[in-house]
Amino acid sequence: MELARAIASRQSINRVRQDPVPDGIIEEILESAVHAPNHKITEPWLFHVFTGKGRGEFARARAETARLQAEEEGEDEEMAAGRISRERKKAFRAPVVITVISRAGRDGVETMENYAACSAAVQNMLLTAHSLGLGAIWRTGPVAYHGHIRAFFGLDEGDHIVAYVYLGYPDMGERPRRREAVAEKTVWHRG
Ligand SMILES: Cc1cc2nc3c(=O)[nH]c(=O)nc-3n(C[C@H](O)[C@H](O)[C@H](O)COP(=O)(O)O)c2cc1C
Repeated sequence: MELARAIASRQSINRVRQDPVPDGIIEEILESAVHAPNHKITEPWLFHVFTGKGRGEFARARAETARLQAEEEGEDEEMAAGRISRERKKAFRAPVVITVISRAGRDGVETMENYAACSAAVQNMLLTAHSLGLGAIWRTGPVAYHGHIRAFFGLDEGDHIVAYVYLGYPDMGERPRRREAVAEKTVWHRG
């Protein structure tokens, strides 16, 4: 697919079929990620790929995180049970879930720039998925920031979960795109 068309037509796809995605396709998507620009060639990304029954590990970590969050927020038992169950199910929304982690830099600026590089890597993944006929969505949510899930992924201080990329064959049509005109967001400084 031509690049400009891929960029303009990519959309977040939140409904995908459960059909498995071949490993070769997943590897192609990961390969596209590591070509993203990264300052000082820190290559700050780390990927965890969950497929098939492997998603169960992610589901358990999500559910346990939700249980702790409910406890911390003083939710009653019924509310907590609903929350835990919803979080567990989220791991199975797509046949493939890829967690994109940004590693800490040697100082605060490098950590921030590593996160920026990982964001570029995620966009490469979304565009590659789209160009291959797959649907993808970049998700985060409270379960991306809690200490329990951070521990599950073995994160140290300054490491971040940048995205959970949910991937699969689309089970939904296109939506109209909502974007303000770029002219509204642009200040020109002409000579
Ligand atoms: C950092 C980040 C986090 C996001 N987290 C979520 C999320 O948790 N749930 C969700 O439905 N979409 C999430 N999105 C996707 C946005 O909702 C989506 O990109 C936006 O609605 C624009 O739609 P489009 O991607 O189809 O252009 C996230 C996007 C970014 C960049």
